[in-house]
Amino acid sequence: MLQGLQDARKELPSKYFYDDVGSQLFEQICELDEYYLTRTELGIMQERMAEIVALLGPNCLLIEYGSGSSTKIRMLLDALQDPAGYVPIDIAKEQLLRSATSLALAYPELEVLPVCADYTSDFVLPLPRKPVLRRVAYFPGSTIGNFDREPARHFLHQIARVCQGGGLLIGVDLKKDFNILHRAYNDSQGVTAQFNKHLLVRMNQELDANFQLNQFGHYAFYNPGQSRIEMHLVSLKNQTVRIGGSEISFKLGESIWTESSYKYTLEEFAQLAATAGFAVERVWTDPRKLFSVQYLTVG
Ligand code: TRP
Repeated sequence: MLQGLQDARKELPSKYFYDDVGSQLFEQICELDEYYLTRTELGIMQERMAEIVALLGPNCLLIEYGSGSSTKIRMLLDALQDPAGYVPIDIAKEQLLRSATSLALAYPELEVLPVCADYTSDFVLPLPRKPVLRRVAYFPGSTIGNFDREPARHFLHQIARVCQGGGLLIGVDLKKDFNILHRAYNDSQGVTAQFNKHLLVRMNQELDANFQLNQFGHYAFYNPGQSRIEMHLVSLKNQTVRIGGSEISFKLGESIWTESSYKYTLEEFAQLAATAGFAVERVWTDPRKLFSVQYLTVG
């Protein structure tokens, strides 16, 4: 965290949003009227479930990157034929174990093998007892949009290695009217602002920092040249903040970059997937073409 704040352009890794409280705040974002992503993605999945499970086939091992509350996976589990197992991977341990337990109760036939890890790191894939016909990664929510281009390619390539001979079911948010995007990341209830500031709360609690929460403002905007939402915390005055034994100075208006959310056209995403070794097998979208669910395969 210190390293990010000592850079000329201050930036913090977004994975630290997701402790137990942060994960719950994110769940709240997913339910906001303005946040069309989750609702649209679930709508597409519901509508196209028969086609989706036909492509995934029987006996697949489902590996979910960033499983959160493991809500979305239930739709798949309800429809899939004899899944060989489910591997939820998440950095938020309490939530991961809670969700894995309740899922195992709801699906007694299913072997649930949770992995607590930063999913971009190397983790050991657990082996289920049942035979696996193919490995299928599940990466919903357009989380791929939270990676810059090169890291996105690198991460997809990593998934391709894990799922060789299988596939990746992924949610990808699409380019659209800037105003719709703007509203999605600047909700009227201020939940996204609270989520953004949660990074400061965590530093206060866990790194002995003294950020004044009301002296930083949530600022999110769409940068059309870079095809991304940029989310920042902007200092509302000249101030110095202590973090453990270090001090960090902020000028009035200076920002900490906390998250990006890239938006793609279908062509742009197909190109990215191809450079990581994936072929786009099938794309589903909603009628307004806000969001896409895609099945990619790797030979
Ligand atoms: N994958 C989500 C997205 O890009 C993550 C997200 C949504 C998010 N809203 C956020 C991350 C607000 C940080 C802050 O849309």
